[in-house]
Amino acid sequence: MLKNIVCIGAGYVGGPTMAVIADRCPEYTVTVVDINAARIEAWNSGNLPIYEPGLEEVVRRCRGRNLFYSGDIAGAIRQADVIFVSVNTPTKTFGTGAGKAADLQYLEKTARSIIKYAESDKIVVEKSTLPVRTAQALGRVLEANGRGLKFRIVSNPEFLAEGTAIRDLNAPDRVLIGGLDADAIETVASIYAHWVPREKIITTNLWSSELTKLVSNALLAQRVSSVNSISALCEKTGADIDEVTAAAGLDSRIGKKFLKAGIGFGGSCFKKDILNLVYLCGYYGLPEVAAYWEQVVKMNDFQAKRFVGKMLSSMFNTVADKRIAVFGFAFKADTGDTRESPAIAVTRQLLEEHALVRICDPKAIENARLDLAETEGDVSFFTDPYLAAEGTHAIALLTDWQEFRNLDYRKLYDMMEKPAFIFDGRNLLDAGMLFDIGFNVYPIGKKERTHF
Ligand code: UDX
Ligand code: ADP
Repeated sequence: MLKNIVCIGAGYVGGPTMAVIADRCPEYTVTVVDINAARIEAWNSGNLPIYEPGLEEVVRRCRGRNLFYSGDIAGAIRQADVIFVSVNTPTKTFGTGAGKAADLQYLEKTARSIIKYAESDKIVVEKSTLPVRTAQALGRVLEANGRGLKFRIVSNPEFLAEGTAIRDLNAPDRVLIGGLDADAIETVASIYAHWVPREKIITTNLWSSELTKLVSNALLAQRVSSVNSISALCEKTGADIDEVTAAAGLDSRIGKKFLKAGIGFGGSCFKKDILNLVYLCGYYGLPEVAAYWEQVVKMNDFQAKRFVGKMLSSMFNTVADKRIAVFGFAFKADTGDTRESPAIAVTRQLLEEHALVRICDPKAIENARLDLAETEGDVSFFTDPYLAAEGTHAIALLTDWQEFRNLDYRKLYDMMEKPAFIFDGRNLLDAGMLFDIGFNVYPIGKKERTHF
């Protein structure tokens, strides 16, 4: 009978997912391990290593009861019945497939740890996003254990979005389980069945499950790039992107979610998964399909460049020595995560133009410092938006944190250089109100409002 669940990798996926499993399945012991000792220590402290609304409450409820964070990878593997693998699978930066293919070294090292320490048969669950047919490779490494141990591989991709992870985990649209072994699939399904209705637990073959994860993210990212491409056209034609998407989204076949224009998508998944898809298509001799999906990423890069281009041209073609407050560095609101955040590209471009950049974010300042550690230029970091904006020529709003909406913009205007500019990269603010205060306002995909 299933008793011990182990998760290898205590990151943005493994951490919250296992906390919710422990919360919902009190009869199981859930142990999360990681090679990063500092991360484990943080999970065991009052200051969790990731910010996610609602996470702290769940961890506090379960930690020490049936949820454990540990550095003892060997011991955890020995005791595990089911091992979830949620290690990082970044895009390769070297060798064949550099810039597109997934770097599977962490996954393979995990497989080797499993072989080394396992003393009994295990179900191994792929949780990390992986290229299609990775399960097969994982299976081959595990089969080579030479001790007759049996490892059954199940793919169970995670669909949680950061910032809403706890809500998504507690009420998922679907749970997807792919595999070749009906018993192994059922064992994993029975975990989720503690709280997810059975009709939402979908089972498929292994390859469909792996591909579905890539496709889901590719379709979502494609939607964002599609809307952003139209935002550029709106700015030229006088149409308003929010009006266009609201009206188009009323068609139930299109749907109204995920149609918000901005400076582009970020996060650890979208770009990586599309590039993965592109690499796979190329590998299987489908260059037209590869080019089609690659365009989604190109459009995303274009949107960030376009945004900086607009800042430059509006501010009289130079931002050199001008102070610019960047409001928000996280790739979206309600997270401290900055992986692939468009704010990184925007900030680097501004620094290249010799702007003096003052970054403000409620949760992502530590990560922002790391991201920009090797970037040359004059950059400083703030958690207080009023301090960040003091004496600046412009505010560039890059993350849709609600707190930025609720600031006192008259006060901000009074402390800025004139003419004062606001570039709202998320269409978060009330452009009319800002214009009336005196700002020159540049939203995305809408008419700009200027006093000259
Ligand atoms: C995504 C998927 O949603 C999730 O299912 C998967 O498991 C992981 O990848 P995540 O990257 O955490 O989740 O956040 P998401 O809410 O999807 O946003 C991704 C990016 O797209 C953010 O930068 C966000 O600002 C941007 N976005 C999203 C838009 O620009 N417009 C939108 O309408 C929606
Ligand atoms: P994700 O967003 O997919 O959860 P993260 O980078 O946040 O990715 O987390 C992945 C975690 O996996 C990291 O904390 C990393 O230290 C851990 N990890 C990577 N390789 C191994 C390994 N071989 N054994 C244990 N943990 C690992």
